[in-house]
Amino acid sequence: MCACVCFFVDSSQSESPSDAEDHRPSFSRPPVSHNTQSSDAPQSSSRFSMYNIVSQKLMAKMGFKEGEGLGKFGQGRKDIVEASTQRGRRGLGLSLQSFEGELNVEWQDEPEPNAFEEVTWFPECSTEIPDSDELSDWMLIGERKLKIEDETEFCSEKLLHLLLSCKSVFDDLEGEEMRRARTRSNPYETIRGAFFLNRAAMKMANMDHVFDYMFTNPKDSQGRPLIRDKESELLYFGDVCAGPGGFSEYILWRKRWHAKGFGMTLKGANDFKLEDFYAAPSELFEPYYGEGGIDGDGDIMRPENITAFRNFVLESTEKRGLHFLMADGGFSVEGQENLQEILSKQLLLCQFLMALSVVRTGGHFVCKTFDLFTPFSVGLIYLLYLCFERVSLFKPLTSRPANSERYVVCRSLKPGSDAVRDYLFTVNLKLNHLRHSERDVTDVVPLNCLELQIKSLAKIHAYVRETTLSEPRQADIRKECLRLWGVSRNGADIDSFNCRPTALSSSTLDKLQHVLDHRCIVGGGEQIFLLGLGKSQIYIWDGKAPLRWKKLENWKLELPRDTLLSVEIVQELKGEGKAQRRINAVHVLDALVLNGTDVRDQHFNQRIQMAEKFVKAVSKPSRPDMNPIRVKEVYRLEEMDKIFVRLEMKVTKSSGGMPRLSYTGRDDRHFLPSGLHIIKTVSGEGGCLYSAEFENPWTMAYSKTSNKKFFYNKQTKESTYKMDPTAVAPFNECYHERLFWAWEEGVIVHDSQTRVDPKKLSKDHVLSFIRKHCQNSIWGFKCDCIFGNIRPPQICSSPVKQAGRRWPNVYEVISPTSSFKGEMGMCDSHFASV
Ligand SMILES: C[S@@+](CC[C@H](N)C(=O)[O-])C[C@H]1O[C@@H](n2cnc3c(N)ncnc32)[C@H](O)[C@@H]1O
Repeated sequence: MCACVCFFVDSSQSESPSDAEDHRPSFSRPPVSHNTQSSDAPQSSSRFSMYNIVSQKLMAKMGFKEGEGLGKFGQGRKDIVEASTQRGRRGLGLSLQSFEGELNVEWQDEPEPNAFEEVTWFPECSTEIPDSDELSDWMLIGERKLKIEDETEFCSEKLLHLLLSCKSVFDDLEGEEMRRARTRSNPYETIRGAFFLNRAAMKMANMDHVFDYMFTNPKDSQGRPLIRDKESELLYFGDVCAGPGGFSEYILWRKRWHAKGFGMTLKGANDFKLEDFYAAPSELFEPYYGEGGIDGDGDIMRPENITAFRNFVLESTEKRGLHFLMADGGFSVEGQENLQEILSKQLLLCQFLMALSVVRTGGHFVCKTFDLFTPFSVGLIYLLYLCFERVSLFKPLTSRPANSERYVVCRSLKPGSDAVRDYLFTVNLKLNHLRHSERDVTDVVPLNCLELQIKSLAKIHAYVRETTLSEPRQADIRKECLRLWGVSRNGADIDSFNCRPTALSSSTLDKLQHVLDHRCIVGGGEQIFLLGLGKSQIYIWDGKAPLRWKKLENWKLELPRDTLLSVEIVQELKGEGKAQRRINAVHVLDALVLNGTDVRDQHFNQRIQMAEKFVKAVSKPSRPDMNPIRVKEVYRLEEMDKIFVRLEMKVTKSSGGMPRLSYTGRDDRHFLPSGLHIIKTVSGEGGCLYSAEFENPWTMAYSKTSNKKFFYNKQTKESTYKMDPTAVAPFNECYHERLFWAWEEGVIVHDSQTRVDPKKLSKDHVLSFIRKHCQNSIWGFKCDCIFGNIRPPQICSSPVKQAGRRWPNVYEVISPTSSFKGEMGMCDSHFASV
């Protein structure tokens, strides 16, 4: 019987979509057979004809007859074992009736995801801020109500009920199953926290960008910067209900020591985690927990804490208050999701009250809200609408589309909001006193937010049901968003390292047409990154996501700390035949940081020169037992033929007497070459890492008259002998634009090789291309045809321009063993000003 059972394995449980159908025994589609059915196969009835002939034979051999059970007395089971419908970690056979039904919401028509978001402000408020007399009548006290279904004052009944039913569908679902489907369904999911401590930081990055940097570069209503004297005035900000502190980490990452933050959050498990601030200096942030200061409890709902925090902020800001306040309060409402708005109403009120208590006139406020159906919530929003110049309800794309979270963003606090502040303070006292209060004010929840939420819930529902569905646009969307919000450390994001070289082939050969722009290196292994943390603390990473540094074990090599190199691990061979010795060596292809000196924005030639000096300094010729480290020999592309004379066919120890292609380096050591790395050292069109403003279309040409090479700018038609700083291709550009010509089977690079693959590029083909284009680069021959009207420089230099991009001077070494966050540890202190 067990043979029968194993045919029913349900591959839909598989985690990976790719391994789903492949390994499924093929009952459903019988293979075309030219044999007629053999006599020992059971006669196929309509029920069993779906099994292929092999299975039928196997079953027949075991004595299976249709309608009878297996076993000596036919006592076995007669019916087919049903395919499992178990999903995720649900118990076997458990079917969630409420979940399996359709939601009848069309989610496939959701708009194409993209990184662009538009802000809609509420219309300007022309109503004056009410005075305390007027406000004193506004508070209505009624019965406590824990019901949301009838809150239809500001939302149509149909819409509210659709939303609630969409949410309720998930009530029975296990958290993990829901989380997986949500991850697959949301195109923006993989943006995650980039190099910050959490996703929340990215929400702030997202909103700051969309709201034209109103937080990190606040302006008044006339568009003038709020911080006038850049040199001496700090940007003061507050962050409440804020643990672990991702919002502040983002702000401090942008502003560094030009900002000062004050924060209050509940003590306990969700307290600030300043030691985990990874991208920004936490020394510029001061937690204060209300009454008792550092010893307080941080509960924003306690009136004493609000007063204490306000006093503390005013004292610390020369009585002027904050330029802006961020508030992101929330707590678990598991099992009561539909009541989230009601359960968090006092928290929302206290965050608004805090804003009116600590933000200076002209300052801004951003605060998380949930659903806004009840008159209480709508009333609170209305109060903000009265007190700030402009108010917007905004759902950033970093906030999961299927949840109720959205943010109220308020620009420019008007003077004269004290009465509203005092009023909210009184309401909070009352809430604490009664804990049964209701407020009744006017406004509506924007329906487009709500509609989006309903569609997204329907989509997750579909993704839970169909485990092979996954959102294909996540990677592209992530890249686009990070670039747009400026959350990238000049390419230090892991994605910028995670790129394969372009394969050199007949279709990519044209990339070499500006021959003089390139250098080449013979490869002998996989290109990887090597991180030196001092002595033999050496780690390698293959450049692929996820970022995992592996200790270089069993090597005798020592490197000074703060060293980052692009290398190959190459097996070097000395001698031939039986006497041959092998040793593992590090071959340096390029340098990023040398003992703390960041060299990434130097020209490739300089980087190589510095790497040579460095390698010379670390090499220990008296220690032949140590693994060697060498810098690769670099050739100009136009001198590529020099490489081919270094290629020989040699017998190696493991080649079974067959000679193999071998490259001999400067000394008598050789290695088996894998191909040729080709590096473009002049900043050209700019890879996808660089936006249009960074494009520096330089190329090199040769002037026959002066017998000199010169740089030519294809955009400005400027030519100069002296290298313009913007013509330098920094490490990341070289790395991103690199090509690799694999010397694999069928590629002829040595005369004794005979196996030709006509689809692959061979030596003769590449050399003739290079010769032809080399001629074109010489001014006085055919340069017009490639560059237009190129002229060698008349005057010997051009004014030195400010390079469009600067690499940071600081290199943070990340210990692969400690606070390792999955990102390369390079910070860019200049980023905000680029
Ligand atoms: C979503 S988290 C905030 C995340 C934060 N913005 C970040 O960037 O890391 C919500 C926070 O609100 C806090 N919180 C909830 N109720 C609170 C209360 N009554 N007083 C102060 N903080 C509260 C929680 O402890 C938690 O730290």
